[in-house]
Amino acid sequence: MNSNLTQGVSRRSFMRILGAASAAATSFPALAAVQAGTQAAAQPAARGNGMRGMQLSPDTVIISSNENPLGPAQSALTAICTTAPLGGRYHFDEYMKTVAVFNEQFGLKKDYSALFPGSGGPLDLALMSNIGPDKPLVYGDPSYEQGPRAADTMKAPKYPVPLTTTYAHDVKAMLKAHPSPGAYYIVNPNNPTGTMTPKADIVWLVNNKPKGSVVIIDEAYHHFSNDESCIDLVAQDKDVIVMRTFSKIYGMAGLRAGFAVARPDLIERFNIVGGPSRSLASISITSAAAARVSLQDKDLVPLRKKINSDIRSETLEFLTKHGYKIVPGSQGNMFMVDVKRPGKEFQAAMLKQNVAIGRTWSAMPNYVRVTVGTKSEMEKFQTAFVKCMDTPPGTANGAAELHLPEFHVPSELYRG
Ligand SMILES: Cc1ncc(COP(=O)(O)O)c(C=O)c1O
Repeated sequence: MNSNLTQGVSRRSFMRILGAASAAATSFPALAAVQAGTQAAAQPAARGNGMRGMQLSPDTVIISSNENPLGPAQSALTAICTTAPLGGRYHFDEYMKTVAVFNEQFGLKKDYSALFPGSGGPLDLALMSNIGPDKPLVYGDPSYEQGPRAADTMKAPKYPVPLTTTYAHDVKAMLKAHPSPGAYYIVNPNNPTGTMTPKADIVWLVNNKPKGSVVIIDEAYHHFSNDESCIDLVAQDKDVIVMRTFSKIYGMAGLRAGFAVARPDLIERFNIVGGPSRSLASISITSAAAARVSLQDKDLVPLRKKINSDIRSETLEFLTKHGYKIVPGSQGNMFMVDVKRPGKEFQAAMLKQNVAIGRTWSAMPNYVRVTVGTKSEMEKFQTAFVKCMDTPPGTANGAAELHLPEFHVPSELYRG
């Protein structure tokens, strides 16, 4: 790990932020059991077998679902321990306290945000409450599939718009795609490419879009990037819904916490789709508390952002130096690489080498998405990658077949 990383951050807070403070477990006996559990949960096999029904070898490197290998911060684990004994009661105030901290940090008025267990559920509500048979969805291609999936559910016409040559959302083309869509869906940084759409372009779309439509900006990976958030557009009462999650930089994918940020009337509209916002808003008190202290943990985001960007740069440098073609400009915890054969075939070959990489997109079928793991995970990735690339396409016979669900929606297994 880069020694510069600890500059300006004490060892204690460094470990706390990483979520791996075995020292804390010793001096804080109540935490020891939790920590043991956390460390077990961080083992690849435990994650893979448990969540996707796949039989993976215990040493499999899992860099397939844009999770954070560091897991929750120590402050979050401590908050969970403190809050869990209160779990016999509903304690809506944990929810309220976390929403208040979030609103204060972003200068939002009361009722301009809502806290959910993860962001995938409220993303469905945001999409589905604004699209329908006569209200199409306009979205980037390739991008996160939950947009088109929601359009299918709502029988809304789909208008995929290719990304620009710099892999940004092409907002001018998105505006031209249909005269009166229900929603525009922008993922920034984009999943799977990790690339950015300039904020000025998003503001332009918001200011020029037809009346009656909303712009949904999915900032699941925002904390890894250098660009400005679009949450201020919500504070300005624009027709915008911003999604935030604790699954990525905060390492809480399994704990589930996320925010929908929008004008109260837009959040109220979530109830159009069968009133699920009430049930979906039922975040556990432990996750609400873990989310709150993570927000208040000032060093957490800068430190983890640096860890991710250092390891991403090293990996991309390795791939480029060896002549492999990558999608440039990722500011996320993922990147795409050209494997010069059907991505699915390559994914299966990598799994045979005990490295589970991400999926492929039909707009870029010869590219695979790879999540940035730890330094040692990425070293294993590099070795396996070169080996698989050196094997001619079509010859990886007997490669394990991956049976992953195609989309991430609340009713399906998680896949990121
Ligand atoms: C762009 C994007 N949005 C939303 C989600 C949903 O994440 P979660 O439900 O864990 O908050 C994901 C998950 O990977 C994602 O990549």
